[in-house]
Amino acid sequence: MEDPLKQQFLIDLNKIDSLQALLNTKAKYIGKKGILTEKIKILGQLPQEERKAQGKILNELKNFIEEQIKNKESELKQNQIRESLTRDYIDITFPGKDYYFGGSHPVNKTLLEIIDIFSELGFTIEEGPEVELDYYNFEALNIPKNHPARDMQDTFYVNEDVVLRTHTSPVQVRVMEKKKPPLRFISPGKVYRCDSDVTHTPMFHQVEGLMVDEEVSFSHLKGMLIYFLQRFFGKKIPVRFRPSFFPFTEPSTEIDIGCIICGAKGCRVCKGTGWLEVLGAGMVHPNVFKFAGYPDRKYTGFAFGMGVERLTMLKYGIDDIRLFFDNDIRFLRQF
Ligand code: PHE
Repeated sequence: MEDPLKQQFLIDLNKIDSLQALLNTKAKYIGKKGILTEKIKILGQLPQEERKAQGKILNELKNFIEEQIKNKESELKQNQIRESLTRDYIDITFPGKDYYFGGSHPVNKTLLEIIDIFSELGFTIEEGPEVELDYYNFEALNIPKNHPARDMQDTFYVNEDVVLRTHTSPVQVRVMEKKKPPLRFISPGKVYRCDSDVTHTPMFHQVEGLMVDEEVSFSHLKGMLIYFLQRFFGKKIPVRFRPSFFPFTEPSTEIDIGCIICGAKGCRVCKGTGWLEVLGAGMVHPNVFKFAGYPDRKYTGFAFGMGVERLTMLKYGIDDIRLFFDNDIRFLRQF
């Protein structure tokens, strides 16, 4: 007759449907306090003859149970794998998700290019706040309250004394207040004007430039800016200096390049003139030196300012400034 313990085990084994149940059954029979383990423990109390026979039976049973458990375990594991293969099936013929490489924004590319060229010319970089005191944005740049030049720019006022800077020129005064000549720096950054159409956005970027020392002359201004424009737009670009007005420079000039859209023949972009305005510049007004606290007549210098979006539009033939801010990947990927 079969050993009842073995039969009981076989019934239990049959019912096992998980690894946890398997562990439980294993513990029940051959664990530290398992039924079989207990039986083996008390073998020593039996008389010699019986101990021998019983020992053999129990040992065989133990081996049998261990083997059955092992078989059951690998059977359960196989089932588990098969199950997860059907459950977590991946269709490797399914098309993958597209991904794109990022790139520099065209405005950023232009900014870096401008910085590169002026760095080679020995210009360092300075920065100023975008939320600026009326004093630095206007007053110290020789634009007193009620000066008509304030109308040239549609200003966002934070309060009576604080504005969103309308240009990067306030950085001129902030730097001069802190540093003595020789000065040679550019200052790239965001500026704000209450304006919006195909060529204007309420926020755009400018790069300011300032060079101050004893005996800096207008010909330095011309040399530096012609060199810059020809590096930026190409060696053959025609450049012209037109007299103009800014309260913080005297004399002042606006600088045009031959229209690169039509080859200076006259088109919609250059309004038929063949010329495009790209820079404002001039010799630093003595009043600005005074506001900066520099001694009278000791220094001369030139300043210039340019619009980064505008330069980018001209260089790449982009006709709507709003494209820079839509961030349509199809537009951006062309650069
Ligand atoms: N700040 C002027 C503008 O925004 C540009 C400029 C800068 C002109 C420096 C002269 C000198 O239009």
